[in-house]
Amino acid sequence: MFDIQKSKYLDFLSKFGVGGAHPGGMALTKELLRAENISNTSQILDVGCGTGQTAAYLASTYKAFVTGIDFNSIMVAKAQNRMKKYHLPVNIIEASIEQIPLRDKQFDLIISESVLSFVNKSKALDEIYRLLKYGGRFIAIEFTMNQMLDKKSMDEIEQFYGFDTLLLKKDWVALFNDAGFQTIRIRKNQQSLSSSPEFQHSQNIERELYDVMNQHIEMNLKYDGILDYRIYSCTK
Ligand SMILES: C[S@@+](CC[C@H](N)C(=O)[O-])C[C@H]1O[C@@H](n2cnc3c(N)ncnc32)[C@H](O)[C@@H]1O
Repeated sequence: MFDIQKSKYLDFLSKFGVGGAHPGGMALTKELLRAENISNTSQILDVGCGTGQTAAYLASTYKAFVTGIDFNSIMVAKAQNRMKKYHLPVNIIEASIEQIPLRDKQFDLIISESVLSFVNKSKALDEIYRLLKYGGRFIAIEFTMNQMLDKKSMDEIEQFYGFDTLLLKKDWVALFNDAGFQTIRIRKNQQSLSSSPEFQHSQNIERELYDVMNQHIEMNLKYDGILDYRIYSCTK
């Protein structure tokens, strides 16, 4: 169906500056954060922070110490602009989640919102585990197949989004276990929690990225109820 050799999906997200670019959007993020024990002394890391909407929310609402990392320079620039505009002391770093240039055991909470699907999950989870303090919490909102799909559908989804691999719930749990995480809880979102995404458009957006946006809408409709998501939370 798609003639895209290399996925342009992340280019679309960064050029359109899509914030809350994860299932459930900011409404789900706010609900999940309310259930955590966050204070103005908490050290929090948002991995794959995109345009920084969650990081900014954490800094402004909880006055926590927040760091965001993302490997896309356009996302990083948009996140940094956001922090400057709202005078928020959030540290935004351009780096890959697979090799994070931060010291061990410094975070109380790490959040990843629709990021792990795109990366080498074992490497990323080892890094997240390394950075968490003992007793620290990790929350991930991640695409999860409800059932095993045929190869053609898997290929179509992986190629379009540029996913490293598409997983079932049990595969995610095995990865969290392998990385050393404990008390793994999984939640399937019951209510249709979602909120409209936010946009921070770049000045020049290539025509083909509008096509990517339309194809993304088509993919959502085609795989509705199949390509689902789960909220995973666990402890170091
Ligand atoms: C679907 S977007 C989600 C962005 C943000 N978490 C949100 O919810 O709006 C995925 C993000 O992961 C980032 N990303 C993908 N691979 C990455 C990697 N290896 N290291 C760091 N960030 C990565 C992308 O640049 C993008 O900003």
